[in-house]
Amino acid sequence: MDAIHIRGGNALFGETKIQGSKNAVLPVMAAALLIEDVCMIENCPCISDVHHMQKLLESIGCRVSRMGHSLTIDARNISQDTMAGENVTGMRSSITLLGAMLGRVGEVTMAYPGGCVIGARPIEMHLNALRRMGVFIYENESGFTARAGKLEGAVICLPTSSVGATENVILAAVMARGVTVLQNAAKEPEIVTLCEFLREAGAVIEGIGGSVLIIQGGHRLHGITFRIPADRIVAGTYLMSVLGAGGHIFLEDAPVAQMRSMLRIAEEIGAEINISREGLNVIAQEHKRALPYVKTEVYPGFPTDMQSPLMAALTTSHGVSIIEETIFEDRFRIIRQLKKMGACIELRGKRQAVIMGVDSLLGCEVTAEELRGGAALVIAGIMALGETIVRNRHFIERGYEDICRDYQNLGGAVYTIPSDSPVQAAEGPSMDDKKSG
Ligand code: EPU
Repeated sequence: MDAIHIRGGNALFGETKIQGSKNAVLPVMAAALLIEDVCMIENCPCISDVHHMQKLLESIGCRVSRMGHSLTIDARNISQDTMAGENVTGMRSSITLLGAMLGRVGEVTMAYPGGCVIGARPIEMHLNALRRMGVFIYENESGFTARAGKLEGAVICLPTSSVGATENVILAAVMARGVTVLQNAAKEPEIVTLCEFLREAGAVIEGIGGSVLIIQGGHRLHGITFRIPADRIVAGTYLMSVLGAGGHIFLEDAPVAQMRSMLRIAEEIGAEINISREGLNVIAQEHKRALPYVKTEVYPGFPTDMQSPLMAALTTSHGVSIIEETIFEDRFRIIRQLKKMGACIELRGKRQAVIMGVDSLLGCEVTAEELRGGAALVIAGIMALGETIVRNRHFIERGYEDICRDYQNLGGAVYTIPSDSPVQAAEGPSMDDKKSG
């Protein structure tokens, strides 16, 4: 059975190391396509989205090999300009291969990308920005062909600061003729990582980390070895878990400089935070304060990817909390599952969730519908009294290398149910064998 089994009700005590960042490594893998050479990517997480991206790169002629957490991409030969199938339609970040393919071979035919069901997730901003650079796009029902006669630098202003559209413009611009000025660029840390990778490989990019990027195209890129930073959303997920369940944890390598908004929220709820060069130390009380109001925002605001994990943590806080989702309109699907566990949550319009804290959650069988919502259900399971089964583990595996291992390191009774087992066959020690936190 594709599920996770949790025996909840105990606080978390322990330490775990934070994996490399999913949303940083995926565009870096796409960027390796621009380089007619061999790149080594270190600290690459073993997650299914990376596996899909590897398959996509291989399908167009790259040679990709993995040794532990190091991925080698040899993009000296590209033999295909067409991408289709589940690796494209099952993953949003396949769209970053659009800018990379235009930069490398000037043409690509691809299916529309898929990804988590968290909202409309259109790509018109990507396509319009690339049109300004001289790209012609022919769309049909299932996908499109994009062709750059000559890729030209341009002045582009994004209507909203989309992470994916920013990545696509950067990838095309480093290979374009002339200078591209990108206004209202996304400032997420993953954009900074992509720019640093390209700069180390020989690209000329100014304004990194700001909302205006100036990219001088046409510089020859060369192979490099590059290390992916730790994943701020994975670290944030474990932070929310200890806020929810109580306890004392240490998150080695947590990218604290990228986590300021999450740390502010954690302190508001009542956690004691200590930051060192090695990582993040959190002491949380089981009795936590409610959060009168928080909204998701683009970086450096509170991230939409942390919205569901925060909601799970707040279900047992003292008082009423309000979360407003401003980025993806469909990220409240988890509410139905949390209510099955005894949470008291009401929707106010489409964008606000009102969470009335309850004394405790009760374990039961719930179903993950997407990645971060799935991780949030695991948090709820750790907080809940009794046993919880979270179905659809595969959604969680898109972004978490081994969530069960990490929670076991933190003292949680969280176990994988093997795909061929019935629910009852969950492995791991019984509740009586575990020392309560
Ligand atoms: N948007 C448009 N038109 C477009 C593109 C985006 O209207 O052409 C809208 C979206 O509908 C959304 C907003 O712009 O309302 C922001 O979307 P954005 O393009 O920034 O998101 P993304 O690039 O599709 C990345 C991450 C997401 C993360 C968002 C926001 C990757 C692979 N994905 O998505 O991560 O939530 O930025 O920070 O980097 C996750 O990891 O679970 C995840 C969903």
